[in-house]
Formats: sequence, structure tokens, C-alpha cells
Amino acid sequence: MDTRQWQEEVRRLKKERNAVILAHNYQVQEVQEIADFVGDSLGLAYQAHRTGADWIVFCGVHFMAETAKILNPEKKVLLPDLEAGCSLADSCSEDELAEVRRSSDRLFVVTYVNSTAPVKALSDVVCTSGNAVRIVNRVPPEYEILFVPDQNLGEWVKQQTGRNMRLWQGHCYVHVEFTHASLLRMRQSYPGAPIVAHPECDVAVRMLADEICSTEKMVDFCGKSSAKSFIIATEAGMLHRLRREIPGKEFLPAPTEGCACANCRFMKKITLEKVCRSLQSGEPEIVVPREIAERARLPIERMLDWSA
Ligand code: 13P
Ligand code: SF4
Repeated sequence: MDTRQWQEEVRRLKKERNAVILAHNYQVQEVQEIADFVGDSLGLAYQAHRTGADWIVFCGVHFMAETAKILNPEKKVLLPDLEAGCSLADSCSEDELAEVRRSSDRLFVVTYVNSTAPVKALSDVVCTSGNAVRIVNRVPPEYEILFVPDQNLGEWVKQQTGRNMRLWQGHCYVHVEFTHASLLRMRQSYPGAPIVAHPECDVAVRMLADEICSTEKMVDFCGKSSAKSFIIATEAGMLHRLRREIPGKEFLPAPTEGCACANCRFMKKITLEKVCRSLQSGEPEIVVPREIAERARLPIERMLDWSA
């Protein structure tokens, strides 16, 4: 079957199963095209929270689908390929975090949504890149904040809020591929184009950026800016969303040292064909043990409450 036929079959099955398809901004174009909602981690969490569908087909990575399942324990949540993980989420284990928690009773653990359900279950509040500043600002001042697991996002939030924060030493393998030199070369070639970077980029890249924000806020920033061209320092799937929603402007992928753009191998595990197979078979399904889901739901709900 060609792409159009797969897409038609997905749309047919979606109706038959009363399913909603949620896709992250980093998904391949043909998957974004069949989604009911395309967005960042925060937007997808909201959509999962309010959907009336019986099945949620999550086109993104494991921790995102897990969050959807935690918010919708009674629904079937499908991740078309269970190997769509996240190296950043894997950089913080439940055991390591439990040990740090035991060391102090004054810790307030703010956990980036890119984390596993057991790690969320040990957290006080969850955040995404879209609301991290707002969430950290809401932490009562008598606590010491531990930010888990992305050190670059944590460092940026620390600068924005002026809060004293301990940072877990994790990073996203995709975003640290951008370098100061690779961005500088791009800036020299396109001097009028603002650099828009994700906060998971390291400080040497962030210092060159004109705007640092979540993937959803990139759409807003580029839409409202008077500039006509933009250099986008995040995963390459983002370019499809920007080009589709802001057709009159030019979006240039920021290069890494070795490649013309950055691709997340986990996000790219999801294909149209796998989405179709999932809708046919009702598998693979995300399962979160009840005890973990109940504990992890509290910091996620606190995030939704604090960011409303
Ligand atoms: P956003 O929440 O900004 O979409 O980021 C998710 C992510 O995985 C970034 O690498
Ligand atoms: Fe994880 Fe990085 Fe991929 Fe986002 S881009 S899913 S943080 S590995």
C-alpha cells in the first residue's frame, strides 16, 4: 500500500474503534497528517486528560503514552512500537532517585515529564518544557528543589526563576548534538534569521538563541514574529508542523556537527504502518501497575492544576 492508502485505512479504523490519535511534534509527516492532535508534551497530556475516545493511539515515545495511561486508567492506550523509548528518561532510575530522596526531608522533587512512571511516582510535581518556569515558581520557598532528569532544561529554569536548584545530570542525546560552532555557521549564512532553540540544548547553544521554548511555543513565536526565516534547533520533525501551520515563512533545520539536522531515533520508531497495525490488533498496549499509576497521578495532576 502507498502512504495515502495507509492513511485512509488508519482513518477508517480510527472511527471503527472510537480511537483518538495523539502525535508529538517530532513525528514523521505522514503520521502527523493522520493525527487528531499534534502538539508538545503538555498539550498531549491535556488532550489525553479530556478525551472521550475509548482508545488512545499515542504516536510519540513511551513516557508520553505512559502519562496518557496514568491519566486514563480505564482506557486502552496503544504505543505502536514499545521500543520508542527516551534516553533522557532512562538517565534517572527509580532506585537512584529514591536514595537521593532519603538523604533529605526538605527536598521538593520537580520532575520533567521525560521520565518513567516509577520516577514520577517519587516526585512532588511534574513539569514539561512548556510550563517548567511556572511550576518551579510555584514551589514553596522553604524547600530545596531537585530538578530531574534534564540538566540543561534545569539550568535554564534556574536562570529564569532565580531559584536555587539541584540538578540531575541527565541530558537528551539529540539536543546536545547541536554545538555553538554549528549554530554560529548557520547564523553567518542566514544573518537575519532568529535562532529558536529547545531548552534541552546546552548553554553554549542557548546563549546564541533569540528564543528558547517548548516545541508548541515555537509555533506561536514563529507565527507572531516579523521575521521571514528561522533557524530551528530541535528535532527535525518539528519542521513539518511549522511548515504546515505557517506556510509563508522559511524554516531551516539547525545542523549538528555531523548532520544537516537532528533526528530522534526513538520518535522515528513510529511509522504509519505500525499505527495501522495497532488499530487493527489493539496492541501493543501500555500497562502501568496500579500502585505506581496512583502515586504518579498526583504529581501529574498537580502540574495540570499549577499550570492552568
Ligand atoms: P516538548 O514538550 O517541548 O515537545 O519536548 C519533548 C521532548 O521530548 C523534547 O526532546
Ligand atoms: Fe527523549 Fe531526546 Fe528523543 Fe525527546 S528528543 S524523546 S528527550 S531522546
